[in-house]
Order: sequence, then structure tokens, then C-alpha cells
Amino acid sequence: MPKTLQAGLQIAIELDRASEVPLYRQILDQLRDAILSGRLAAGSRMPSTRIFADELKVSRNTILQVFDLLKSEELLGGQTGAGTFVTTPQALPVAPPPMSMPPGAPALPFRALSRRGKNLVASATGAFAEKPTPFLPDQPDLREFPIKTWMRILNETSGRLTGQILAETSSAGYEPLRQAIAQHLNAARGMNCEAAQVIITTGTQQGLDLVCRMLLDPGDPVWLEDPGYVGAHTAIRANGGHLYPVPVDGEGIDVSAVIDHHPVPRMIFCSPSCHYPSGAPMPLERRQTLLETADRCGAWIVEDDYDYEFIYDGDPCPALFALDGQDRTIHMGTFSKILLPSLRLGYIVVPKDFAAAFAQARGVVDRHSSLIEQMVLSEVMHRGLFVSHIRKMKKLYRHRRDHMRTGLEALLGPEAWGRSGRSGTNLLLPLASGVDDGAIAARLARRGLMVRPLSPYVVTRSRPAGLILGFAAFRDTEIDRGLDLLAHCLPLQPAAAPRSRAAAR
Ligand SMILES: Cc1ncc(COP(=O)(O)O)c(C=O)c1O
Repeated sequence: MPKTLQAGLQIAIELDRASEVPLYRQILDQLRDAILSGRLAAGSRMPSTRIFADELKVSRNTILQVFDLLKSEELLGGQTGAGTFVTTPQALPVAPPPMSMPPGAPALPFRALSRRGKNLVASATGAFAEKPTPFLPDQPDLREFPIKTWMRILNETSGRLTGQILAETSSAGYEPLRQAIAQHLNAARGMNCEAAQVIITTGTQQGLDLVCRMLLDPGDPVWLEDPGYVGAHTAIRANGGHLYPVPVDGEGIDVSAVIDHHPVPRMIFCSPSCHYPSGAPMPLERRQTLLETADRCGAWIVEDDYDYEFIYDGDPCPALFALDGQDRTIHMGTFSKILLPSLRLGYIVVPKDFAAAFAQARGVVDRHSSLIEQMVLSEVMHRGLFVSHIRKMKKLYRHRRDHMRTGLEALLGPEAWGRSGRSGTNLLLPLASGVDDGAIAARLARRGLMVRPLSPYVVTRSRPAGLILGFAAFRDTEIDRGLDLLAHCLPLQPAAAPRSRAAAR
């Protein structure tokens, strides 16, 4: 049950003691959200650390740590003994004060991260390099990357490099690659965009960061899928956006469920071709509802068109960008899954009237992506090799998904994966709500089987539980070996799911 503070604070602090997120972080995040959104008004007096700790049944040191961190972010202030207060936001000075440091004066205290830097660190989620061991999710099969073709084109392209080509590099990307992407999206995603609207990024993560920097102000509400992509959570949080979770069903994000509850969003983030991690593709009608809602709210839509290449059942719907008559959609794509994650190449497509601003901003944050890689990719696309590679990989991954499903059915019964895996590279095994999926994933890892728990992808405290299993990176024999290991770990969960400790209190 959520705990509500009574001691002068009118906000609910919810603690999930089964979560991997430390208690101090849960309290810190919720208080920071409340202050930045104005729910805890400037000047509000905080309860004493002792009362606060008693209310929440945590140690006083935990509350002291939270207060210290919020003070270091200048969100709380006050003297010992005089109480702790929510600070009044400081207006930025119109012009920096003139330098008037007397000679020999002590240096200013500079060895601290900025508030933004601390926010960035606090939103980090962990390491990325992991060995592709069954059933590690989100992995393409790196052995299928067309390395010989790539090297051949790289050799040819290097021979054509002239000083002029090198000098003409635009921060928005290599022009022929932008043209190739626009042509491809117009044919494959029903869009009608021009090369000038395509901005090459260092993958989706950079695209998300750029979009958040450009379109969000601190404290802006962002609606997003729950569960959903952690990379989006981190980019939005790091840029000061506030996450408002929206439930997901077999058709993707369902904004109608929250329209009367959440604050009006500045942005709605979704992955409509392949919801992460269930792999639900969004049908046409749901897309139209989403667009209408965004229209009513005056919100941007950020469409992560992740894994559109791997929609296995039925025809893919046109992109939201294509269906949007109001130019409120930013479309994002990546080459991480269809080619290589380490290429670090992706793109965003923005409305025409924002193209110049985004191109300029791209130059400010990171100049541009590696020119030579862009040139090779451009050739791969213009020669038609990209489309044939998509066709090949989709067929291969569909086969692997079916092979994995057949094996799982034999072990766990029909459709143990629910409705997952209609697109993408993963299957999701739902577990009973309240089950500690992190502990189950850790137990499987000790036996040599890599899966991810669902709970870290969930924003709300209701914590549906599940295991995310990747199939795409593994050959049939490797899938079979993984399934054998899984068979030795059964049953995955106790017959009667225990009540969570929070619920039991
Ligand atoms: C939902 C989603 N979008 C995008 C990406 C790709 O990110 P990037 O292009 O930064 O590698 C991933 C990677 O797993 C993902 O899960």
C-alpha cells in the first residue's frame, strides 16, 4: 500500500520495498518530481527527518541522505534547527555578473556536478556490453551482419574520399544518406518526407536526448508506455521531463485510460510498431485515437519506430508520422537492430518548419556522426542491399521466434508468452503480479540462462512481473540449449504467488 505523509505534506510517497531501486532513490525521485512540478510549493515546510522517517518506516539516515541530496540540488534549503523548506526557484540573471575577483582570492567551490549533471547520473541504468548468451533480449544476430559487403563498399568509398566531400559535412548528416532514408521511409512506412527533414543521429538514444532538449522544459509532463523503454525514461528524466505512465494492452499505449487523470502532456512517447517489451504492434484505429488525443491536448508525439522491420503477423500500419495531419509527430529510427548496435547510426524525421533548428542543435551537441560510416550506409541503401537484408533478417527471426515458441509451449504450455512477439526480437513470459522477477532472473543467470526481469521497465508501483527472453540472436541449436537449461529451472515461480511485503503490511 502506498504510504501518505500526513506531517504537513499533502503528497503521497509510495514505496516499493520489493523493488531493486533503493528506498532513498524512490523517495528522492518522488520529492524532486513534486517540487519541480509545483505540487510541493515553494516555501512549504518539510516534516522533521524523524517524523518523516517514522511515517515511511525507513531509517532516519535514509531521510537525511534524501534531504542532503535535495539541498545539494538547491531544491530544499534551511538551517539546522530552523526547519527545512522548499526553495524558491531562482530566476537566471539577465547577464553574468562582471568578474571582479581580487588577486589572491580563494578559488570558488567548483568541484561539484551541476544540477543537470546530477540528474543525468541519477537517471543512468547500467552497463550495455553483454555477451549474447541465450536468451539475452534486444540482441540482433551479429553473425548475420553483411561484413564482406560492408568492407567491400568501405574500400570503394574510401577511394572516393576527397577533401571537398570531407569539408562539406553537414551537422544534419551526409546528404545522400538523408536522401536514401527519406526514400526508404516514404516507400516502407507510408511517409512523405524530404531529405531536409531527416537528421542523422548517433542512434535512437541520442535522437531522444536531442528531441527532449529541443521540445521539453523542466517539469513538462510526458506520457509514455508503462511498461516501456528504459532508454526513454532516462532521456526524459535527464532532461527534466516528468514521467506519466500510460497503460499498455495488446494494441500498445492506451491514452484513453488516462485522459481524465494525468496533466495535459507536452509530449507523448510511444513505440507503435513494436511496443517494448511486449512486441505489440499498434493497429490503425488505436493510432488514430492517439493522434486525436495529442491534437486535443496540443502535445508532441515522439514515435520510436523501433523494430518496424520485424512485424511478423499481418501488414505493418503506416507510421504515425504518415497519418498525422497536424505535423506534431517526431519520427525516430535506428540501424542498431537491423545492422549493428555499435554502428551508432539512427535518424529523426522532424516537421519541415523545425528542420533547420534541429540541424543546428545537432551540430551544437555532437557536430555530426562519422562521415565514412554514413557514406557506406548510404551506398548500401542506394544499391538496394538494405531492403534485401531486411527481408532476409525478418524471415530468419520469424523462424527463430516460431522455434522458440514451439519449445516454450512444450515446457510451459500453449501461449505461455501471452500476446508477445508479434513483432521485434523478444518474447515476454508474464508472471503472477507481485512475484520477484528480478530474483527469478538472477536464479536463471546462476544456471547460465540470461533473461531480463520486466519490473525495471515499469514506472507505476503496481509492478506487473515477467521475464523478457530474446530469440533473434540465437540459432536453433542455441535456442534448444537455452530451453534445456530453462527446463532444469522449472517451476519458474511458486505455485501460489506470495503477497508482496508492502501489500502484506
Ligand atoms: C524501444 C527501443 N528503441 C530504440 C532502441 C535502439 O536504441 P539505439 O539506436 O540507441 O541503439 C532500442 C534498443 O534496444 C529499444 O529497445
